[in-house]
Amino acid sequence: MPVSISIEGVKHAYQTGQQQPLPVLDDLNITIPEGKFTAVVGPSGCGKSTLTRLVSGLLFPNEGTVSLGGEPVKAPRSTVGMAFQNPVLLEWRSIIQNVVLPLEIVKSELTHNQRLKRAAKLLKMVGLEGFEHKRPSELSGGMRQRASLCRSLVHNPDVLILDEPFGALDAFTREDLWQLMRDIKIKQPFTGLLITHDLRESVFLADQVVVLSSRPAKTQFVLDVDLPEDRTINSLYTPKAVEMLATLREQIEIAQGRKEEVADVE
Ligand SMILES: Nc1ncnc2c1ncn2[C@@H]1O[C@H](COP(=O)(O)OP(=O)(O)O)[C@@H](O)[C@H]1O
Ligand SMILES: [Mg+2]
Repeated sequence: MPVSISIEGVKHAYQTGQQQPLPVLDDLNITIPEGKFTAVVGPSGCGKSTLTRLVSGLLFPNEGTVSLGGEPVKAPRSTVGMAFQNPVLLEWRSIIQNVVLPLEIVKSELTHNQRLKRAAKLLKMVGLEGFEHKRPSELSGGMRQRASLCRSLVHNPDVLILDEPFGALDAFTREDLWQLMRDIKIKQPFTGLLITHDLRESVFLADQVVVLSSRPAKTQFVLDVDLPEDRTINSLYTPKAVEMLATLREQIEIAQGRKEEVADVE
């Protein structure tokens, strides 16, 4: 079952040997209701991947709290799924063997056959039926990323974290995968956290887009994506979407320090 994600007053600095600690996150506040999808955008190096580590329990903040379903995260969570820009599939395993891997790691109760069945069902859902027994190098970049998405979903995670998973793909493959992601979420609900550099991707996939300031990152701006649930790529060309994209673009420029924030003058 999807759970809420709550990031409250989070601050984090990395200890770097003899040098001063490197402050990376400074007062981060993000709430993602259960089953909703939030995209996070922000300048390069501002702390986005650090945020994903905090949510998955691989790292703990110096200050503030990260909670899943109201429970503070105190250890790595096996009920989180993750996918990254680089699909990192194991070349010595077939595609389906790569997809079942998380079930081996979390020591799932499922039998060997049940695991394979679940992986095969996901592979079919993403259009990889017939490729189950190929090696990763026999697939295109887009296909490998589809397989990596299956692997991140095979243990039925209640939270899915995507760290720029479509960044290395060509524009059309990327759009196909956006649509696929929305279709998957209907069939297998999760609470989503997407890190991206692509504002169109953020608006297409998310219910809410959070803009982070440059390092040390603060929550600079939050946009509610008020587009229909059954959106298509065409929804990105509606006046409402175009206006949202312009607002986000402006916020990114502010985050990068290329534009001064203009105070509202009555
Ligand atoms: N394990 C680490 N130890 C020290 N510094 C780190 C570590 N991981 C990341 N950093 C630094 O923290 C900053 C934020 O990194 P990261 O969260 O990966 O940013 P982003 O994903 O937004 O590009 C960067 O300056 C990076 O060099
Ligand atoms: Mg990153």
